[in-house]
Amino acid sequence: VTKIGVLTSGGDAPGMNAAIRAVVRTGIYNGMEVYGILRGYSGMIDGDIFKMESKSVANIIQRGGTILKTARCKEFFTYEGREKAYSNLKKLGINGLVIIGGDGSFRGAQIFSNEFDIPCIGLPGTIDKDIAGTDFTIGFDTAVNTAVEAIDKVRDTADAHDRLFIIEVMGRDSGYIALHSGIATGAENILIPERRTDIEDIINALAEKQGRKKLVNIIVVAEGEEFGATELSKIMTERMPEQEIRVCILGHIQRGGAPTCFDRLIASRMGYAAVECLMEGRFNVFVGIVNNRMHYIPLDEAVKKKQKIGEDWMKIVKILSS
Ligand code: F6P
Repeated sequence: VTKIGVLTSGGDAPGMNAAIRAVVRTGIYNGMEVYGILRGYSGMIDGDIFKMESKSVANIIQRGGTILKTARCKEFFTYEGREKAYSNLKKLGINGLVIIGGDGSFRGAQIFSNEFDIPCIGLPGTIDKDIAGTDFTIGFDTAVNTAVEAIDKVRDTADAHDRLFIIEVMGRDSGYIALHSGIATGAENILIPERRTDIEDIINALAEKQGRKKLVNIIVVAEGEEFGATELSKIMTERMPEQEIRVCILGHIQRGGAPTCFDRLIASRMGYAAVECLMEGRFNVFVGIVNNRMHYIPLDEAVKKKQKIGEDWMKIVKILSS
């Protein structure tokens, strides 16, 4: 592999820039030409591709978002779209790709690498941490820290008014942001899509705590949970009219901001490893980190699995909020 293309795809995640930087600099160090592809697969189809130099990635390691921009591209899920993309890469002689994105982006890479003669390496870039085969994804740590900072602030006002806040965090179908930010902020309860929500149970637990004058003010809900914060607040207000309830949906604030040290570090390590994979002929894998070591998971397997959240996590939540 002599010429590589790098792109970011799907929802942006803090640390994507650090990963781009690592890919560009490691590639150039090893004598490769590196091309930036704008707006994910859309730019590949439109031919928005430009040569990058070491200085193209100066002063970006600390920045959120992605200098390459990103998109969720429907056209890439058609054969015609992928064919166009391939011919644009061929024109420039690009013979390797690094895709920084989530599971949807990996699915695209998997199909593309099976159809065309372009090795693809995935880097897990998503705040959701919903990819099996890696302990971490680029952006998760920053998103969780942002959520924690915000929830701490909400707690101040909740406490001042003796209100109960139902705070909704992102994560798509995954409860990890909710679980981590909820435990770290001492939430009373954490509701996630991986578990059925038992409203009776929640109300009984709240009543019991109020009975012994324990102040209860934060419930964290993952956006993919079956009811969602707004609906839950309606149901709970009907059932507990004496309790003042407010909803706070954190939203896209969780996607922005400077990446944490941890995200910069894993992004740098993963970007470096992606280029190593292309040099060593370890093709069509995504780079993960398991027990602090690099792991290489075939894209074919990556797209089939989802992470599981074990019972022990929920036990911790229950005991620590008692
Ligand atoms: O995958 C990242 C994520 O922020 C999810 O947590 C969320 O469900 C989704 O993207 C929101 O997507 P959009 O920014 O396209 O509305």
